[in-house]
Amino acid sequence: MAAACPRPGDGLSGSDCRGQDSSSRSRKMAALRSLKGMVGIVTGGASGLGRATVERLVQQGASAVMLDLPTSEGSNVAKALGNQCLFTPADVTSEADVKNALAMAREKFGRLDIAVNCAGIAVAVKTYNAKKELPHSLEDFQRVITVNIAGTFNVIRLAAGEMGKNEPDPDGHRGVIVNTASVAAFDGQVGQAAYSASKGGIVGMTLPIARDLAPMGIRVVTIAPGLFATPLLAGLPEKVRTFLARQVPFPSRLGDPGEYAHLVQAIVENPMLNGEVIRLDGAIRMQP
Ligand SMILES: NC(=O)c1ccc[n+]([C@@H]2O[C@H](COP(=O)([O-])OP(=O)(O)OC[C@H]3O[C@@H](n4cnc5c(N)ncnc54)[C@H](O)[C@@H]3O)[C@@H](O)[C@H]2O)c1
Repeated sequence: MAAACPRPGDGLSGSDCRGQDSSSRSRKMAALRSLKGMVGIVTGGASGLGRATVERLVQQGASAVMLDLPTSEGSNVAKALGNQCLFTPADVTSEADVKNALAMAREKFGRLDIAVNCAGIAVAVKTYNAKKELPHSLEDFQRVITVNIAGTFNVIRLAAGEMGKNEPDPDGHRGVIVNTASVAAFDGQVGQAAYSASKGGIVGMTLPIARDLAPMGIRVVTIAPGLFATPLLAGLPEKVRTFLARQVPFPSRLGDPGEYAHLVQAIVENPMLNGEVIRLDGAIRMQP
């Protein structure tokens, strides 16, 4: 099938279809975007990978809306980051909560350019515990699926409506959505049926949502992190942390949340990244 030409109104002229002269190439490179002045909402923004992303947005001159549970540290973290950060207490699985968070974002910052989905939960339970003759709790399985998949989708669908109100930039862009899966989507370990299924769901919906939102000029990219030093892992004994770090081929350590945030920035800045899942894992492949 021949490559599709840009659609009318997406900011590229017909000549871009026919030739790749140096001036058109440099014009496209000029479309690399800067975070400065953008507004981003980050779910799970009060902790770990989400918090590092909020901090990076603010450091780079963007405004950050930190969406997290009312019980989280969000309020204190936002205060420490100053006027360019707003905490919106919300549960990602609630339509009313997310709508309210987006309305608060619009009221304070006037627009939405970026949505980063970091909110997520995990359980570690075998499908069937033969010793106790106990099947995995169906309720736990459904809770992980609901928060990780439905929660991510809820934020995507509502954030897309906000981004759709933006004037497109010269490249036709109105916004970027970044989701967080996990290497567990590909190399799920014992006890990770629910978590791996939920992260596999995020991987699976990345391309169709990117296709759905392409006519609006909104890109969708998913990051699949390996092992990162967030509060989740900080709670483990030092011995276990060292063992886990040694499993990473190179660099042989846990990832820094700042490295996740750096990739979010790269995704926002690079207009050709779309519909893709990027592993960020130091080449680790998890053992069973
Ligand atoms: N840390 C890792 O090594 C790692 C690896 C792979 C994937 N991930 C994924 O990255 C994401 C962030 O992980 P983290 O390590 O930063 O975890 P974390 O526990 O430090 O942060 C998660 C945040 O999500 C919030 N949250 C949970 N449920 C929510 C809900 N229903 N509504 C709103 N907020 C909610 C929590 O309050 C918390 O602040 C998760 O989706 C996780 O599965 C993490």
